[in-house]
Amino acid sequence: DAYDAGEHDSFMHKEMLEQPTAAARVISGRLDERFGTGHLGGLNLDARELRAIRRVKILGCGSAYYVGQMGATLIEDLARVPADAEPASEFRYRNPIVDPDTLYVAVSQSGETIDTLLAVQEVRRKGGRVIGLVNVVGSAIAREVDGGIYLHAGPEVAVASTKALTNSFLAFAMLAVQLGRVRDLSIADGRRLIAGLQALPDQVGKILAGEDELATTAQRLAEAESLFFVGRVRGFPVAREGAQKFKEISYRHAEAYQTSELKHGPLALISPEVPTVAIVPDDELVERNVAALHEIAARGGPLVVVTHEGVDLGGLSCERIVVPANERELDPILLTIPLQLLAYHAALHLGHDIDKPRNLAKSVTVE
Ligand code: AGP
Repeated sequence: DAYDAGEHDSFMHKEMLEQPTAAARVISGRLDERFGTGHLGGLNLDARELRAIRRVKILGCGSAYYVGQMGATLIEDLARVPADAEPASEFRYRNPIVDPDTLYVAVSQSGETIDTLLAVQEVRRKGGRVIGLVNVVGSAIAREVDGGIYLHAGPEVAVASTKALTNSFLAFAMLAVQLGRVRDLSIADGRRLIAGLQALPDQVGKILAGEDELATTAQRLAEAESLFFVGRVRGFPVAREGAQKFKEISYRHAEAYQTSELKHGPLALISPEVPTVAIVPDDELVERNVAALHEIAARGGPLVVVTHEGVDLGGLSCERIVVPANERELDPILLTIPLQLLAYHAALHLGHDIDKPRNLAKSVTVE
């Protein structure tokens, strides 16, 4: 079938707006409400094998790596299994120790990214077990892995990945719940997260419906030569992904930092010319986050704060973008959606080619 952007000015816009339906698709038939768990048949791992996993190592490039960082936190939070993400492009060059009790997870929209494919092959060569979170059915990575979760995002054409990233997050959430439920995650907590996942597609839709308001903020940000994106713990990969999207299509210098690290160096760069986009969910770190933002404001740094309703910013002078509340563990993806819109509207305002940014390819298939 012909796939075109229809009434949208770009594939990126179309693909961002498809996120509620794409998100509903990836969870469809994969949530077990009765037992509060995920139902991921494609993993090819039974409860005993899931229980035997001692560590999770996530591999991906670019945005797939950043969503891998979000996934690692989900797995540690819900399953209490040590997990981390690493750029697939680095992995094989450091002669990695491949451990049979580790579950390797390769994340790739295209399934063709050469660095991720070669990382998968390195794991397999050393006898490790790899699953894939892949969008394109039958792609090279999908064929190479021992099992996995198809993302069912539908075709993604724009270089800037949106719906595949959202669906990767949801796939990680289901995997984390399933891994958790063969360990210590209670049925009540499992059900709480399943309900959160079910609510999520509509919440994504609500954020997208606020696009026009965000456009004005994005246009202001587009005027800056350099920006910071900051967040902590669950919010940090969100900041990284926000900076990545902004760089890719607006060509502005956008740097992600842990909010907690600002005072250890980057605060020196804060000025009225350097805006900061801050991720401040209503979580256990909110007070510390707000205190750090006051340090930015005191130096004249313009602030855009992506947060939840009711968060007390203590009279901070800033623009506030509010996302709906869900379960805390699931916050990262809802906090990411406004950052897609900011990047898109900044690029639109600057007149850039949104779908084909300079120097970039949709999938990098040569080393
Ligand atoms: C995302 O906006 C980027 N274009 C890029 O970082 C991308 O996520 C990366 O190249 C990985 O691609 P893949 O998911 O197809 O493997």
